[in-house]
Amino acid sequence: MLHHYSRLWLPVLILAAFLGGCEPDTKAPKPSAPKPTAASPDEAESARFLEKHWARPLAPQGKLPAPVSAQGISLAPQSCAGCHASQFKDWNDSLHSRAMGPGIMGQLQEMSAHARDDHQSCIRCHAPLAEQADSLVAALGKQASLPKIRPLHRQGLVCAACHVRNNEWYGPPRRDGSQPVGDLSAYPHGGWKASRAFESSQFCAACHQFKDDEYALNGKLLENTYKEWQDSRYARQGVTCQTCHMPERRHLWRGIHDPEMVKKGIGIRAGAASIANGQVAARLGVANTGVGHYFPTYVTPRVVIRGFQQDAAGRKLDGTEQQFVIGRQVTLDLSREIADTRIAPDAEATFDYRMPRHGRASSLMWQAEVQPDAFYLEFYVSLLQSEMKGSNRQLITQARDSASASPYIVFSRRLALP
Ligand code: HEC
Ligand code: HEC
Ligand code: HEC
Ligand code: HEC
Ligand code: HEC
Repeated sequence: MLHHYSRLWLPVLILAAFLGGCEPDTKAPKPSAPKPTAASPDEAESARFLEKHWARPLAPQGKLPAPVSAQGISLAPQSCAGCHASQFKDWNDSLHSRAMGPGIMGQLQEMSAHARDDHQSCIRCHAPLAEQADSLVAALGKQASLPKIRPLHRQGLVCAACHVRNNEWYGPPRRDGSQPVGDLSAYPHGGWKASRAFESSQFCAACHQFKDDEYALNGKLLENTYKEWQDSRYARQGVTCQTCHMPERRHLWRGIHDPEMVKKGIGIRAGAASIANGQVAARLGVANTGVGHYFPTYVTPRVVIRGFQQDAAGRKLDGTEQQFVIGRQVTLDLSREIADTRIAPDAEATFDYRMPRHGRASSLMWQAEVQPDAFYLEFYVSLLQSEMKGSNRQLITQARDSASASPYIVFSRRLALP
């Protein structure tokens, strides 16, 4: 509720309302998994499975059966690593394992230790196990019982959050389609139950798609990745989120933070530069050739296209730069959409450079810079201008520093001027 928070934290609340998709009112209805329209019997069955699987807040697992804990298996990802080493390594390098970084922890620490509903508005996506919610309460309440290293909530989107319910293991059918049979107690963790839902894009919609009644701006949901995908040819061709983000079932989840992934998704064409009436003119085309949703899909990244003239030594010439932005730009308080220049699947955007030729210009330079955390960077900078103190200030400073280090140049091309 509003009066639980100081005015300082208004931006966080607004963010909570936006990302959590619920009012900052603890009586608000609990969000459940979206119900995408099912195209096939498999998809309808997946939708039913996932509605239960992702019914949040997730129920506590209860006590692990003795034979399972005797094998050293727990809800901690490290306990899976011995047998599923490749999944562990990939997951450990992915952003899912870092989903409880300083940016979100700095905000959660401002909440009361016992405000479980408020915690859920964030951790239902970032650290969804009930046992992680308990671990967070212990941390916020500074309970001594909490392990100093790797407490469960700090490990983000852990294996068990996707694979374990009520102490039973779930996964996709084996690659040959078969399921474990016979004496399941002979299998580690008592075998597992197979569901095709793991192969469906709906699996990811639980956290990467807002429901129809959640936060929208300018008539468009703020998180709409599943629906963008559904409207694309990829859905019709059976190319799922997993096809691109978990190739060969690898737990990679590479996205906008990964230059190679982004390069795979876009095609950039630079036409020749010309000069007429002392004006330099050139066109750059950026096509979404392989992204299964808008490029980019969220309001948080920004791609900046720059054209500028250079002298013979490759120095940038002052006053010759033009900038264009690809992205869905919103105000920091999320009250208004400023512009939406994202590129739909299979669409192309073109950018025209037009500037007077500089006396010393010998070439025109095009650059495309990806800023994966542009929105967060601005948000952290504005939080730090407030009187935030102590360890929260440290965490948000750390988050600001890593957000300002994430931009990279994904494309550059030098065109000789005639
Ligand atoms: C519906 C699922 C969902 C909810 C609920 C949610 N997030 Fe996120 N969050 C995401 C996704 C997906 C990303 C990655 C994409 C992006 O950066 O926008 C993300 C990224 C972030 C990031 C940047 C990456 C990082 O770890 O530093 C922060 C900070 C963050 N969320 C904070 C919050 C806070 C605070 C709340 C609660 C007020 C919250 N989130 C609620 C899904 C969610
Ligand atoms: C002692 C070794 C061992 C440990 C530890 C272990 N597993 Fe397994 N796991 C197996 C074996 C063996 C199978 C069965 C593979 C088969 O028969 O196809 C399996 C199957 C699975 C499957 C189903 C695979 C599929 O094809 O769908 C999932 C998912 C899974 N484990 C997840 C986990 C998670 C998550 C953890 C940690 C919480 C874990 N496992 C810990 C050995 C282990
Ligand atoms: C329980 C919620 C949840 C589920 C389910 C989930 N994700 Fe995520 N995902 C997140 C959160 C939260 C982040 C942001 C992590 C961070 O940076 O803090 C994220 C980040 C990502 C990223 C990295 C984005 C970037 O900025 O580079 C990709 C790609 C991704 N998810 C794809 C998927 C796919 C594909 C699936 C389905 C197989 C999936 N996710 C299922 C919550 C989820
Ligand atoms: C965001 C949810 C998510 C998380 C977190 C996650 N997995 Fe998975 N896992 C999946 C999905 C989805 C598939 C099926 C992918 C497909 O069919 O393309 C899968 C497949 C598997 C399989 C079967 C692999 C195969 O080759 O048949 C195993 C084993 C597994 N996961 C173990 C783990 C372990 C261990 C961890 C943690 C280190 C983990 N998973 C973390 C979603 C997740
Ligand atoms: C045809 C391949 C393809 C499919 C299908 C696909 N993606 Fe992506 N995705 C990409 C590429 C390439 C990027 C990197 C460029 C970008 O960020 O838009 C990306 C980026 C992302 C990001 C990073 C954040 C952002 O703002 O772009 C997330 C999150 C994500 N995808 C989730 C999903 C989910 C969830 C699905 C399924 C509903 C999905 N993707 C389907 C190729 C795909």
